[in-house]
Amino acid sequence: MGEISVDGLRKVFGDGGDEIVAVEGLDCAIEDGEFLVLVGPSGCGKSTTLRCLAGLERPTDGRIVLDGEDVTDRKPKDRNMAMVFQNYALYPHMTARENMAFGLKMTTDLSTDEIDARVEETAEMMGIEAILDKKPGELSGGQQQRVALGRAIVRDPEVFLMDEPLSNLDAKLRTQMRTELQSLQQEFGVTTVYVTHDQTEAMTMGDRIAVLKDGRLQQIGTPLECYHAPQNEFVAGFIGSPGMNFFDVVVEETGGTTTLVHEAFEYEVSEDVGADLRETRRRDAAETDGRRRATLGIRPEDIRLAEADDPNAIRTAVDVTEPLGDVTYVYFRVGDEQYTASLAGDVLLDPNSALDVSFPEDRVHLFDGRTGEALRNREPPAEDAAARLNL
Ligand SMILES: Nc1ncnc2c1ncn2[C@@H]1O[C@H](COP(=O)(O)OP(=O)(O)OP(=O)(O)O)[C@@H](O)[C@H]1O
Ligand SMILES: [Mg+2]
Repeated sequence: MGEISVDGLRKVFGDGGDEIVAVEGLDCAIEDGEFLVLVGPSGCGKSTTLRCLAGLERPTDGRIVLDGEDVTDRKPKDRNMAMVFQNYALYPHMTARENMAFGLKMTTDLSTDEIDARVEETAEMMGIEAILDKKPGELSGGQQQRVALGRAIVRDPEVFLMDEPLSNLDAKLRTQMRTELQSLQQEFGVTTVYVTHDQTEAMTMGDRIAVLKDGRLQQIGTPLECYHAPQNEFVAGFIGSPGMNFFDVVVEETGGTTTLVHEAFEYEVSEDVGADLRETRRRDAAETDGRRRATLGIRPEDIRLAEADDPNAIRTAVDVTEPLGDVTYVYFRVGDEQYTASLAGDVLLDPNSALDVSFPEDRVHLFDGRTGEALRNREPPAEDAAARLNL
Protein backbone atom coordinates (compact mmCIF):
# COMPACT_ATOMS: atom_id res chain seq x y z
CA MET A 1 0.00 0.00 0.00
CA GLY A 2 1.08 3.55 -0.52
CA GLU A 3 -1.81 5.90 -0.04
CA ILE A 4 -0.86 9.44 0.86
CA SER A 5 -2.95 12.24 2.24
CA VAL A 6 -1.53 15.73 2.50
CA ASP A 7 -3.66 17.87 4.80
CA GLY A 8 -3.26 21.63 5.00
CA LEU A 9 0.48 21.50 4.34
CA ARG A 10 2.22 24.80 4.98
CA LYS A 11 5.94 25.49 4.95
CA VAL A 12 7.46 28.83 5.86
CA PHE A 13 11.20 29.44 5.67
CA GLY A 14 13.00 32.08 7.71
CA ASP A 15 11.62 34.06 10.59
CA GLY A 16 10.60 37.56 11.57
CA GLY A 17 10.48 40.01 8.68
CA ASP A 18 12.08 37.70 6.10
CA GLU A 19 9.52 34.96 5.89
CA ILE A 20 9.17 33.02 2.66
CA VAL A 21 5.98 31.04 2.35
CA ALA A 22 7.05 28.13 0.15
CA VAL A 23 3.85 26.06 0.45
CA GLU A 24 0.45 27.34 1.54
CA GLY A 25 -2.58 25.25 2.53
CA LEU A 26 -1.89 22.27 0.28
CA ASP A 27 -4.52 19.52 0.43
CA CYS A 28 -4.26 16.49 -1.77
CA ALA A 29 -4.99 12.80 -1.68
CA ILE A 30 -2.77 10.45 -3.66
CA GLU A 31 -4.11 6.99 -4.37
CA ASP A 32 -2.20 3.78 -3.94
CA GLY A 33 -0.26 3.08 -7.16
CA GLU A 34 -0.95 6.50 -8.60
CA PHE A 35 1.59 8.52 -10.59
CA LEU A 36 1.09 12.11 -9.49
CA VAL A 37 3.12 14.89 -11.07
CA LEU A 38 3.71 18.16 -9.23
CA VAL A 39 4.29 20.83 -11.83
CA GLY A 40 4.74 24.58 -11.82
CA PRO A 41 7.26 27.34 -12.48
CA SER A 42 10.54 27.73 -10.62
CA GLY A 43 10.10 28.60 -6.96
CA CYS A 44 6.43 27.52 -6.72
CA GLY A 45 7.15 25.04 -3.90
CA LYS A 46 7.43 21.69 -5.70
CA SER A 47 10.68 20.53 -4.10
CA THR A 48 9.60 21.81 -0.70
CA THR A 49 6.38 19.79 -0.92
CA LEU A 50 8.31 16.68 -1.92
CA ARG A 51 10.89 17.20 0.82
CA CYS A 52 8.09 17.50 3.38
CA LEU A 53 6.69 14.18 2.10
CA ALA A 54 10.13 12.60 2.41
CA GLY A 55 10.70 13.98 5.89
CA LEU A 56 13.65 16.12 4.80
CA GLU A 57 11.74 19.28 5.77
CA ARG A 58 9.51 19.73 8.76
CA PRO A 59 6.15 21.27 7.85
CA THR A 60 5.28 24.53 9.59
CA ASP A 61 1.69 23.34 9.66
CA GLY A 62 -0.39 20.43 8.37
CA ARG A 63 -0.04 16.67 8.24
CA ILE A 64 1.35 13.95 6.00
CA VAL A 65 -0.58 10.71 6.34
CA LEU A 66 0.71 7.45 4.81
CA ASP A 67 -1.69 4.52 4.75
CA GLY A 68 -3.76 5.99 7.53
CA GLU A 69 -0.81 6.76 9.79
CA ASP A 70 0.37 10.24 10.58
CA VAL A 71 4.05 10.26 9.55
CA THR A 72 4.58 14.04 9.80
CA ASP A 73 7.13 13.71 12.59
CA ARG A 74 8.78 10.49 11.44
CA LYS A 75 12.38 10.43 10.27
CA PRO A 76 12.95 9.93 6.53
CA LYS A 77 14.22 6.40 7.01
CA ASP A 78 11.09 5.40 8.93
CA ARG A 79 8.66 6.40 6.17
CA ASN A 80 9.25 3.69 3.61
CA MET A 81 9.55 6.24 0.84
CA ALA A 82 12.52 6.39 -1.55
CA MET A 83 13.65 9.66 -3.03
CA VAL A 84 15.40 10.15 -6.37
CA PHE A 85 17.13 13.49 -6.93
CA GLN A 86 17.95 15.55 -9.99
CA ASN A 87 21.69 15.33 -9.43
CA TYR A 88 21.51 11.55 -8.74
CA ALA A 89 23.27 12.03 -5.35
CA LEU A 90 25.33 8.84 -5.79
CA TYR A 91 28.33 8.26 -3.54
CA PRO A 92 31.28 8.90 -5.86
CA HIS A 93 33.70 6.54 -4.07
CA MET A 94 31.32 3.58 -4.25
CA THR A 95 30.59 1.35 -7.24
CA ALA A 96 27.08 1.22 -8.67
CA ARG A 97 26.58 -2.05 -6.83
CA GLU A 98 27.69 -0.55 -3.51
CA ASN A 99 25.51 2.50 -4.07
CA MET A 100 22.49 0.29 -4.63
CA ALA A 101 23.27 -1.92 -1.64
CA PHE A 102 24.02 0.92 0.76
CA GLY A 103 20.44 1.85 1.68
CA LEU A 104 19.53 -1.79 2.25
CA LYS A 105 22.52 -2.25 4.55
CA MET A 106 21.55 0.79 6.57
CA THR A 107 17.81 0.28 6.86
CA THR A 108 17.22 -3.50 6.82
CA ASP A 109 18.66 -6.54 8.55
CA LEU A 110 19.01 -8.49 5.31
CA SER A 111 22.13 -10.66 5.02
CA THR A 112 24.90 -9.70 2.60
CA ASP A 113 23.86 -12.56 0.30
CA GLU A 114 20.25 -11.45 0.29
CA ILE A 115 21.27 -7.87 -0.45
CA ASP A 116 23.54 -9.04 -3.29
CA ALA A 117 20.70 -11.06 -4.78
CA ARG A 118 18.28 -8.14 -4.64
CA VAL A 119 20.77 -5.76 -6.20
CA GLU A 120 21.53 -8.24 -9.02
CA GLU A 121 17.85 -8.86 -9.67
CA THR A 122 17.01 -5.14 -9.83
CA ALA A 123 20.06 -4.40 -11.99
CA GLU A 124 19.02 -7.08 -14.44
CA MET A 125 15.52 -5.71 -14.68
CA MET A 126 16.90 -2.27 -15.42
CA GLY A 127 19.54 -3.48 -17.84
CA ILE A 128 22.48 -2.20 -15.81
CA GLU A 129 24.16 -5.52 -14.81
CA ALA A 130 27.19 -4.70 -16.94
CA ILE A 131 28.00 -1.47 -15.12
CA LEU A 132 27.51 -2.64 -11.53
CA ASP A 133 31.22 -2.56 -10.73
CA LYS A 134 31.87 0.89 -12.11
CA LYS A 135 31.98 4.08 -10.09
CA PRO A 136 29.70 7.04 -10.91
CA GLY A 137 32.61 8.97 -12.46
CA GLU A 138 32.92 6.26 -15.12
CA LEU A 139 29.24 6.35 -16.04
CA SER A 140 27.24 8.52 -18.44
CA GLY A 141 24.41 10.72 -17.13
CA GLY A 142 21.79 8.22 -18.24
CA GLN A 143 23.62 5.33 -16.59
CA GLN A 144 24.01 7.29 -13.35
CA GLN A 145 20.32 8.04 -13.37
CA ARG A 146 19.50 4.37 -13.87
CA VAL A 147 21.71 3.49 -10.89
CA ALA A 148 20.01 6.18 -8.79
CA LEU A 149 16.62 4.75 -9.78
CA GLY A 150 17.85 1.23 -9.11
CA ARG A 151 18.95 2.31 -5.66
CA ALA A 152 15.40 3.51 -4.94
CA ILE A 153 13.71 0.46 -6.49
CA VAL A 154 15.87 -2.09 -4.68
CA ARG A 155 14.53 -0.81 -1.36
CA ASP A 156 11.03 -1.86 -2.43
CA PRO A 157 9.41 1.23 -0.91
CA GLU A 158 5.72 2.09 -0.64
CA VAL A 159 6.32 5.41 -2.37
CA PHE A 160 8.80 6.87 -4.87
CA LEU A 161 9.51 10.57 -4.57
CA MET A 162 11.31 12.01 -7.60
CA ASP A 163 12.57 15.56 -7.93
CA GLU A 164 13.27 16.42 -11.59
CA PRO A 165 15.14 13.14 -12.05
CA LEU A 166 15.56 13.56 -15.81
CA SER A 167 16.46 17.21 -16.14
CA ASN A 168 20.23 16.64 -16.37
CA LEU A 169 19.85 14.40 -19.40
CA ASP A 170 19.89 15.47 -23.03
CA ALA A 171 16.55 15.69 -24.84
CA LYS A 172 16.67 12.31 -26.57
CA LEU A 173 17.72 10.38 -23.48
CA ARG A 174 15.14 12.24 -21.44
CA THR A 175 12.35 11.04 -23.73
CA GLN A 176 13.68 7.49 -23.57
CA MET A 177 14.03 7.51 -19.77
CA ARG A 178 10.57 9.01 -19.49
CA THR A 179 8.97 5.96 -21.08
CA GLU A 180 11.29 3.61 -19.18
CA LEU A 181 10.32 5.19 -15.91
CA GLN A 182 6.66 4.99 -16.75
CA SER A 183 6.81 1.30 -17.59
CA LEU A 184 8.82 0.57 -14.44
CA GLN A 185 6.24 2.42 -12.37
CA GLN A 186 3.40 0.54 -14.04
CA GLU A 187 5.16 -2.76 -13.52
CA PHE A 188 5.73 -2.14 -9.81
CA GLY A 189 2.52 -0.21 -9.23
CA VAL A 190 4.32 1.88 -6.63
CA THR A 191 2.77 5.23 -5.73
CA THR A 192 4.97 7.91 -7.28
CA VAL A 193 5.12 11.65 -6.70
CA TYR A 194 7.16 13.22 -9.46
CA VAL A 195 8.29 16.84 -9.58
CA THR A 196 8.99 18.67 -12.82
CA HIS A 197 8.72 22.17 -14.21
CA ASP A 198 8.28 20.71 -17.70
CA GLN A 199 4.62 20.61 -18.67
CA THR A 200 5.25 18.05 -21.43
CA GLU A 201 6.70 15.66 -18.87
CA ALA A 202 3.70 16.30 -16.63
CA MET A 203 1.19 15.72 -19.43
CA THR A 204 2.79 12.52 -20.68
CA MET A 205 3.71 10.85 -17.40
CA GLY A 206 1.08 11.71 -14.84
CA ASP A 207 -2.13 9.82 -14.04
CA ARG A 208 -2.99 13.17 -12.52
CA ILE A 209 -1.12 16.41 -12.32
CA ALA A 210 -1.14 19.00 -9.56
CA VAL A 211 -0.35 22.50 -10.80
CA LEU A 212 1.27 24.79 -8.25
CA LYS A 213 1.88 28.52 -8.32
CA ASP A 214 3.36 30.61 -5.50
CA GLY A 215 3.02 27.68 -3.11
CA ARG A 216 -0.67 27.24 -3.78
CA LEU A 217 -2.44 24.41 -5.56
CA GLN A 218 -4.16 25.76 -8.68
CA GLN A 219 -5.73 22.55 -9.94
CA ILE A 220 -5.39 18.82 -9.58
CA GLY A 221 -6.76 16.51 -12.25
CA THR A 222 -5.95 14.27 -15.19
CA PRO A 223 -3.66 15.88 -17.75
CA LEU A 224 -6.54 16.30 -20.21
CA GLU A 225 -8.84 17.75 -17.57
CA CYS A 226 -6.26 20.44 -16.89
CA TYR A 227 -5.81 20.92 -20.64
CA HIS A 228 -9.47 21.16 -21.66
CA ALA A 229 -11.04 22.41 -18.45
CA PRO A 230 -8.48 24.63 -16.70
CA GLN A 231 -9.81 26.23 -13.52
CA ASN A 232 -8.01 29.47 -14.17
CA GLU A 233 -5.96 31.41 -16.66
CA PHE A 234 -2.68 30.37 -15.06
CA VAL A 235 -3.32 26.65 -15.58
CA ALA A 236 -4.64 27.35 -19.09
CA GLY A 237 -1.42 29.15 -19.98
CA PHE A 238 0.96 26.77 -18.23
CA ILE A 239 -0.36 23.51 -19.68
CA GLY A 240 0.01 23.05 -23.43
CA SER A 241 2.74 23.92 -25.90
CA PRO A 242 2.61 26.15 -27.85
CA GLY A 243 0.53 27.83 -25.19
CA MET A 244 -3.03 29.09 -25.23
CA ASN A 245 -3.57 32.53 -26.84
CA PHE A 246 -5.10 35.18 -24.57
CA PHE A 247 -6.93 38.35 -25.61
CA ASP A 248 -8.00 41.10 -23.19
CA VAL A 249 -11.59 42.02 -23.87
CA VAL A 250 -14.39 44.12 -22.43
CA VAL A 251 -17.82 42.50 -22.19
CA GLU A 252 -20.49 44.73 -23.70
CA GLU A 253 -24.20 44.09 -23.67
CA THR A 254 -26.42 45.99 -26.04
CA GLY A 255 -30.02 45.18 -26.87
CA GLY A 256 -29.84 41.51 -25.97
CA THR A 257 -26.52 40.72 -27.64
CA THR A 258 -23.25 40.23 -25.82
CA THR A 259 -20.05 41.25 -27.53
CA LEU A 260 -16.45 40.77 -26.48
CA VAL A 261 -14.69 43.94 -27.48
CA HIS A 262 -10.94 43.73 -28.08
CA GLU A 263 -8.93 46.75 -29.13
CA ALA A 264 -8.58 45.24 -32.60
CA PHE A 265 -11.76 43.19 -33.09
CA GLU A 266 -15.25 42.48 -31.85
CA TYR A 267 -16.55 39.00 -31.16
CA GLU A 268 -20.27 38.49 -30.74
CA VAL A 269 -21.19 35.51 -28.60
CA SER A 270 -24.31 33.32 -28.64
CA GLU A 271 -27.17 33.75 -26.17
CA ASP A 272 -25.85 30.75 -24.30
CA VAL A 273 -22.44 32.24 -23.66
CA GLY A 274 -24.02 35.63 -22.95
CA ALA A 275 -26.20 34.01 -20.27
CA ASP A 276 -23.13 32.30 -18.77
CA LEU A 277 -21.35 35.62 -18.59
CA ARG A 278 -24.33 37.30 -16.91
CA GLU A 279 -24.56 34.42 -14.44
CA THR A 280 -20.89 34.62 -13.46
CA ARG A 281 -21.08 38.39 -13.30
CA ARG A 282 -23.41 38.13 -10.35
CA ARG A 283 -21.06 35.64 -8.72
CA ASP A 284 -17.94 37.70 -9.08
CA ALA A 285 -18.09 41.09 -10.69
CA ALA A 286 -14.74 42.13 -12.11
CA GLU A 287 -15.60 45.61 -13.15
CA THR A 288 -13.40 48.62 -13.35
CA ASP A 289 -14.72 52.00 -14.36
CA GLY A 290 -18.05 50.32 -15.00
CA ARG A 291 -16.66 48.02 -17.71
CA ARG A 292 -16.43 44.32 -17.26
CA ARG A 293 -13.10 42.90 -18.28
CA ALA A 294 -12.47 39.33 -19.30
CA THR A 295 -9.84 37.30 -21.10
CA LEU A 296 -10.68 35.25 -24.15
CA GLY A 297 -8.49 32.16 -24.50
CA ILE A 298 -8.09 29.87 -27.48
CA ARG A 299 -5.57 27.11 -28.11
CA PRO A 300 -3.44 27.30 -31.27
CA GLU A 301 -4.98 24.11 -32.72
CA ASP A 302 -8.52 25.48 -32.30
CA ILE A 303 -7.96 28.51 -34.50
CA ARG A 304 -9.43 28.16 -38.01
CA LEU A 305 -9.05 30.00 -41.27
CA ALA A 306 -12.17 32.19 -41.52
CA GLU A 307 -14.90 31.49 -44.07
CA ALA A 308 -15.80 34.45 -46.26
CA ASP A 309 -19.12 35.09 -44.49
CA ASP A 310 -17.92 34.67 -40.90
CA PRO A 311 -19.21 37.70 -38.92
CA ASN A 312 -16.62 37.09 -36.19
CA ALA A 313 -13.65 36.79 -38.56
CA ILE A 314 -10.55 38.53 -37.24
CA ARG A 315 -8.13 40.27 -39.56
CA THR A 316 -4.52 39.53 -38.60
CA ALA A 317 -1.07 39.91 -40.12
CA VAL A 318 1.23 36.94 -40.60
CA ASP A 319 4.67 37.33 -38.99
CA VAL A 320 6.33 33.98 -39.56
CA THR A 321 5.28 30.46 -40.50
CA GLU A 322 6.97 27.29 -39.31
CA PRO A 323 6.03 24.29 -41.46
CA LEU A 324 6.64 21.15 -39.37
CA GLY A 325 5.22 18.77 -41.97
CA ASP A 326 2.17 17.51 -40.11
CA VAL A 327 1.14 20.98 -38.94
CA THR A 328 2.22 24.53 -39.67
CA TYR A 329 2.67 27.00 -36.84
CA VAL A 330 1.61 30.44 -37.93
CA TYR A 331 2.73 33.37 -35.80
CA PHE A 332 0.41 36.25 -36.44
CA ARG A 333 -0.16 39.69 -35.07
CA VAL A 334 -3.29 41.28 -33.66
CA GLY A 335 -2.65 44.85 -32.51
CA ASP A 336 0.82 44.83 -30.94
CA GLU A 337 0.74 41.25 -29.72
CA GLN A 338 1.91 38.06 -31.36
CA TYR A 339 -0.20 34.90 -31.25
CA THR A 340 0.14 31.35 -32.54
CA ALA A 341 -2.12 29.18 -34.67
CA SER A 342 -1.44 25.56 -35.47
CA LEU A 343 -2.88 24.96 -38.92
CA ALA A 344 -2.83 22.06 -41.38
CA GLY A 345 0.58 21.09 -42.72
CA ASP A 346 -0.30 22.11 -46.27
CA VAL A 347 -1.17 25.70 -45.38
CA LEU A 348 1.34 28.03 -47.01
CA LEU A 349 1.33 31.71 -46.10
CA ASP A 350 3.64 34.57 -46.96
CA PRO A 351 5.12 36.71 -44.23
CA ASN A 352 3.30 40.05 -43.91
CA SER A 353 0.23 38.72 -45.73
CA ALA A 354 -3.18 39.38 -44.23
CA LEU A 355 -4.88 36.39 -42.64
CA ASP A 356 -8.51 36.16 -41.54
CA VAL A 357 -8.91 33.73 -38.66
CA SER A 358 -11.91 32.52 -36.74
CA PHE A 359 -12.34 31.28 -33.19
CA PRO A 360 -15.08 28.62 -33.09
CA GLU A 361 -17.21 29.49 -30.08
CA ASP A 362 -17.26 25.94 -28.76
CA ARG A 363 -13.46 26.11 -28.42
CA VAL A 364 -13.29 29.45 -26.65
CA HIS A 365 -12.36 29.81 -22.97
CA LEU A 366 -13.33 32.86 -20.95
CA PHE A 367 -11.58 33.99 -17.78
CA ASP A 368 -12.44 36.69 -15.30
CA GLY A 369 -10.38 39.80 -16.03
CA ARG A 370 -9.51 40.38 -12.40
CA THR A 371 -9.17 36.98 -10.75
CA GLY A 372 -8.28 34.88 -13.81
CA GLU A 373 -10.85 32.30 -12.71
CA ALA A 374 -12.41 30.33 -15.57
CA LEU A 375 -15.91 31.65 -16.33
CA ARG A 376 -16.48 29.18 -19.10
CA ASN A 377 -14.31 26.50 -20.68
CA ARG A 378 -14.47 25.13 -24.19
CA GLU A 379 -17.08 22.47 -24.88
CA PRO A 380 -15.69 19.15 -23.71
CA PRO A 381 -14.57 16.83 -26.51
CA ALA A 382 -17.32 14.49 -27.84
CA GLU A 383 -18.92 12.39 -25.15
CA ASP A 384 -17.30 9.06 -25.94
CA ALA A 385 -13.90 10.72 -26.19
CA ALA A 386 -14.57 12.55 -22.94
CA ALA A 387 -15.43 9.28 -21.21
CA ARG A 388 -12.27 7.63 -22.54
CA LEU A 389 -10.25 10.59 -21.37
CA ASN A 390 -11.85 10.38 -17.95
CA LEU A 391 -13.12 13.94 -18.14
N1 LIG B 1 15.97 26.03 2.75
C1 LIG B 1 15.35 27.15 2.32
N2 LIG B 1 15.49 28.32 2.97
C2 LIG B 1 14.85 29.44 2.56
N3 LIG B 1 14.04 29.48 1.49
C3 LIG B 1 13.85 28.35 0.80
C4 LIG B 1 14.49 27.12 1.17
N4 LIG B 1 14.12 26.16 0.28
C5 LIG B 1 13.28 26.76 -0.58
N5 LIG B 1 13.11 28.06 -0.29
C6 LIG B 1 12.23 29.02 -0.99
O1 LIG B 1 10.94 28.48 -1.04
C7 LIG B 1 10.33 28.71 -2.30
C8 LIG B 1 9.97 27.39 -2.96
O2 LIG B 1 11.17 26.70 -3.27
P1 LIG B 1 11.19 25.25 -3.94
O3 LIG B 1 12.60 24.81 -3.97
O4 LIG B 1 10.21 24.37 -3.26
O5 LIG B 1 10.67 25.59 -5.41
P2 LIG B 1 10.59 24.63 -6.70
O6 LIG B 1 9.17 24.70 -7.16
O7 LIG B 1 11.15 23.31 -6.41
O8 LIG B 1 11.48 25.42 -7.75
P3 LIG B 1 12.52 24.86 -8.88
O9 LIG B 1 11.68 24.51 -10.07
O10 LIG B 1 13.38 26.05 -9.15
O11 LIG B 1 13.26 23.70 -8.31
C9 LIG B 1 11.33 29.55 -3.09
O12 LIG B 1 11.00 30.89 -2.93
C10 LIG B 1 12.65 29.22 -2.43
O13 LIG B 1 13.55 30.31 -2.56
MG1 LIG C 1 12.84 22.26 -7.12
